[in-house]
Parts: sequence; C-alpha cells; structure tokens
Amino acid sequence: MTVYKSPSPLPEKARASIAEALNARLADGLDLHAQIKVAHWNIKGPHFAAFHPLFETFAVSLAAHNDSIAERAVTLGGKAYGTARHVASHSRLPEYPQDTTRDLEHVRLLAERFDTFLTGMRESREAIEVHGDTDTVDLLTAVVTEFEKHSWFLRASLES
Ligand SMILES: [Fe+2]
Repeated sequence: MTVYKSPSPLPEKARASIAEALNARLADGLDLHAQIKVAHWNIKGPHFAAFHPLFETFAVSLAAHNDSIAERAVTLGGKAYGTARHVASHSRLPEYPQDTTRDLEHVRLLAERFDTFLTGMRESREAIEVHGDTDTVDLLTAVVTEFEKHSWFLRASLES
C-alpha cells in the first residue's frame, strides 16, 4: 500500500502495515453492519419488539466505529477501501442466511458473527501494539469493549 504524508511520527512502513490492518477490520465492520441491518429488517417472532430496536443500536454504534477506523487509516497516510464488492471479497465473516426470520435464530447468528469480528479486532490490536501505535490500539480497544458488551446482550438472551 502506498502511504501518503501523515501528521503521525510513525515510520512509513509501520503506517502502511497499520493502515492495511485497519482496512481488514473495516471490511469486517462494513460486512457486519449490513448483516445486522438484514437481521433488523427480517426478524419475526415474540421477541421482535426487543430485538428490532436493539439491532439498530448495534448498527448505529458500528457505523461510527467503521468511520473512525477508515479515517484512522487515511490519517496514517493510507486509503480506506469500502465498496460492497471490496467488502464481499475481503471480509472474514461468513455470509448471512438471509431467509432467516425467527427472532432467537437471528440472535444466535449475530452472536457468532460478533465473535468473529472481535477476534479480528484483537488480532489487529496485537499486531498494531508491536508498532507502538497506542492511539490506534486505543481506538480498537473502544470497539472491542463496546462489542463485547453487545455480545453479552445477545448471549444473555440465549440463556435458558
Ligand atoms: Fe430501521
């Protein structure tokens, strides 16, 4: 990845590698956002009233994080890739079974995807820590903290 001038004092090589990691997480985040919306739109069942708005709060929170991740990549002199076609070929998330309607099945499917999303975040955070970029590490920590909480909401709903 070509790196442009940046206000960051980090060496060019580090910035290129961090921007690449951020783009991988952006692909996952944009994919997850679309999948959450599919769940938000198609959910049916006795728990509709609870989960339809809850899924929307996840989507809103994720959209803000995706924006921060994209802008951090560009701040470091990289680019932010995010078209639907790019996301489809770069996301590590499995495709969402779009015919699903049952409320708790959506909760289970999203919980699995939150795990995958969080694993990617933690891996990238570790890789970025090596470069000493605490600012990007903090940004990813904010995402991990918030999505671990969202994941807890889903897991708690699946408990019997
Ligand atoms: Fe909506």
